[in-house]
Parts: sequence; structure tokens; C-alpha cells
Amino acid sequence: MKHILGNWKMHGSASDLWAWQEQFVPTEGVNIGLFLPAILLHSQPVNFFTGAQDVSIHEGQGAFTGEISATMIKDTGARMVLCGHSERRHVMGETDAIVKKKAENALRAGLEVVLCVGEPLEIRENGTFEDYVERQLLESFPFLASPAQAGASAPMDPNLRWESETIMIAYEPVWAIGTGKVASIAAIAAMHDFIKRVAPIKNIAIVYGGSVKAGNAHEILHTQGVDGVLVGGASLKADEFQKICEAAL
Ligand code: PGA
Repeated sequence: MKHILGNWKMHGSASDLWAWQEQFVPTEGVNIGLFLPAILLHSQPVNFFTGAQDVSIHEGQGAFTGEISATMIKDTGARMVLCGHSERRHVMGETDAIVKKKAENALRAGLEVVLCVGEPLEIRENGTFEDYVERQLLESFPFLASPAQAGASAPMDPNLRWESETIMIAYEPVWAIGTGKVASIAAIAAMHDFIKRVAPIKNIAIVYGGSVKAGNAHEILHTQGVDGVLVGGASLKADEFQKICEAAL
């Protein structure tokens, strides 16, 4: 089943969400999720799942003004969390170590994780993008000994659910996010194949993100190795997002 995930980023109000839901008719046979601003997560929709766009690095409760913990997100009924979105890595300065800790908190709280990776333009242009994405993936992957320490091996906490059902990867080249520039189909297929080979979990789902729209979704979604899409701008319009969901079939 394809995953069609929307990311509203810092957009939308409660009334926008209600209007969106009134218009949106979910497609059967597609796994549909919306990553909403945390403040909207209590308005749980009935016919698709929601997720948070970020989670605190701090666990449980405590004096961390402004932070939202994984258990608080879980309590809203949300199912998933985005970890390491490029805007958090490159605008908010999150390191691989921070992303990894956040993903671990989310999994411990029983949330599913979409771990985002992707290279900036200069890395694409200088040709080192495979090394860059592999390092990002292995350094931020939850419960994995850092390759720098031990050679990427087994999960460190065998009691946790750490499997292809609870974690997926989003490959989002930074230069394609919000720019209207989509990676070529050949580049998407090559990177998804590469990530599947180097990922520490076999059969992990990989979704593509970066300027996905109704007009290009069908081709992207039917590319070898693409298990779904993560959609920013085009997810704000219910009719366009619905067309992207339909393009998955
Ligand atoms: P975009 O954003 O679809 O607006 O390019 C994708 C994302 O940031 O997840």
C-alpha cells in the first residue's frame, strides 16, 4: 500500500482543517496521513491518521518551556512524527544526534517515525550525495550504534518495536523542497534503491518528498522503489491532495 503523507508545516488554522476535511474524500487502499501543526492535533479527523512535525528531545515531563513531548503527541491520538525534516535540520540547526534522540523518544512513546534525509544542492552538484545521505541516515537512525563508533549493526534496545512497521524514511532532496524543482525520475529511483541497500532495516518503506503535486504524482508514485510521497505545499489544498492520493492507485 502506498503512503501519501501531507505536511502542513506552519500553515493552517482549526477552521482551515475543518474546511479541508469537508472537502477531502479519502482514497481506499492508500495509507493517508497529515502532519499538522501540533496545536491542531486535538482536532482528530476520522478517516485518516495524523502526525506531528517535530517532537521534543526531552522525555516525559519537565521544565522545558515550549516543548511538546512524545507522550503528549501520542495522547492527542496522533500516530506518527516527522523527525529530521530538512527545515529542522537546516533552518533550526538540528544535528543527526538530536534527530536520533527525538526519533527514539517517539518510538518509546509508541509513535511511528518518518525519518527524513536528503542532500543540499551543493552536495548534489559535487557528486557526494550518496555518502552524505548514507551518513545522515546511519547517524540519525534510532537505536543504531553510530557508524563512527561501532560499524552500524543491531538495534541497541531489543525490547522496542523497531521494524519496518514503525519507521519509514522520507528522501527529500533539500533543493527540491518548496522550489518547484523535482528530482528527475532516474535520480529518485537511484536514491531510493541506494537507501534501501544501506538502510539498517530490510524492506523499509521510503517515500519521496520535494515539490510533489497532482501533475507529477502519478509518475513519481509509480517509480521503482517509491513507496509513497511526502507532500508539503500541495497538501494544503484538499482537492489537490486527493488527486495525489488517487494517483497512487
Ligand atoms: P513541498 O515540501 O512539497 O512543498 O516541496 C515537501 C516537504 O517539505 O515535506
